[in-house]
Amino acid sequence: MLDVAPTTYAYLKTSSGPLLPWRRFRFPIGWDEQFPVSGPLRPGPLHLEVGFGDGRYTVRRASSAPDERFVGLEISSVSLQRGLSNVRKRDLNNVKLLKVGAGFAVRHLFAPHTLTSITVNFPDPWPKERHEKNRLLQTAFFELAASRLVPGGAVLLATDHPEYLAFARGQARVSELFVLEEAEPPSAVFETKYALKWKTLGKPLFYQVFRYSGLPTPEYPGLERDKTMPHALLSGQLPPRVLFSKQVTPYAGGHVILHEALQSLGADDGDSSGEKWLVRATVEEPELRQQVLVSVRARGERGLIVGLEPFGDPVVTPATRGAVHAVTEWLLTLPAIEVETRSY
Ligand SMILES: C[S@@+](CC[C@H](N)C(=O)[O-])C[C@H]1O[C@@H](n2cnc3c(N)ncnc32)[C@H](O)[C@@H]1O
Repeated sequence: MLDVAPTTYAYLKTSSGPLLPWRRFRFPIGWDEQFPVSGPLRPGPLHLEVGFGDGRYTVRRASSAPDERFVGLEISSVSLQRGLSNVRKRDLNNVKLLKVGAGFAVRHLFAPHTLTSITVNFPDPWPKERHEKNRLLQTAFFELAASRLVPGGAVLLATDHPEYLAFARGQARVSELFVLEEAEPPSAVFETKYALKWKTLGKPLFYQVFRYSGLPTPEYPGLERDKTMPHALLSGQLPPRVLFSKQVTPYAGGHVILHEALQSLGADDGDSSGEKWLVRATVEEPELRQQVLVSVRARGERGLIVGLEPFGDPVVTPATRGAVHAVTEWLLTLPAIEVETRSY
């Protein structure tokens, strides 16, 4: 019998190895469970590195402080693989690497005031004025970072780019949450892949400590993540053939793009109860971009269920709910289909 119940999912509690499948955990992540300590020991300070590249700095730092905990973020799959391979070679158990952007991760994966440091070594400088909005170290990020740092914790920046340095200093000052400190960088900071590249070209390198003052920060509401995937129940039947064209809908500060609808291959026995369509969608939100599948399945004789598929471990955000909404609205344009319940 076809299972037409809306998909539910179970969160993981821990995972072994340096790669953390963060999408499958509750947010914020319980970092004490990810880095267990034995006996009366207390968990060591928690450090975050944004854009670890090939991970050589992460590895050096984690090797020299085995009692401290290091979380690295990357958006590049190639860098993630290099970082993982470097961490595995040294068999380090105090490092976790995640493929996720900093904006989303700092906001959702860390509880308030739990991080001791946030390292940003050689961030992409986005030198053109019209691209400045893509720079990581903007006032909004400093405010978010402060909300996750312990008082006295710091954002640590290394860069070869004097304009980026001046920009970051200005943005931190606007936040009024950081004290700017001059400091000697740990030697390994100027020995990352990019540091060595810029040194070879004779470029000067800069280091800046932004110390969180402990002043109150903005609060950031968490994501509401139901155990049941967003879905809608409809009455009616899928017609044997329909035309579908790409649709872009603004949703929750982002966009839902429905690219195409694909029909499953079924037996040619006239029974449409096992029939399923998949709509491939991109969900773009300010801090997270996801590729998702929304399914449309037959439910009994004359019913349909529309739901977000668990494929790819999507994070249920307002705009992924929007993808289910967009598919539901599209189905309502077809003859004799009506909505019964919307659960998204
Ligand atoms: C210029 S490289 C520097 C890499 C490394 N830190 C080093 O010094 O060799 C910048 C890195 O940041 C990563 N990155 C850019 N934006 C990011 C973001 N929002 N979150 C996480 N990583 C990011 C890029 O994929 C890239 O690997």
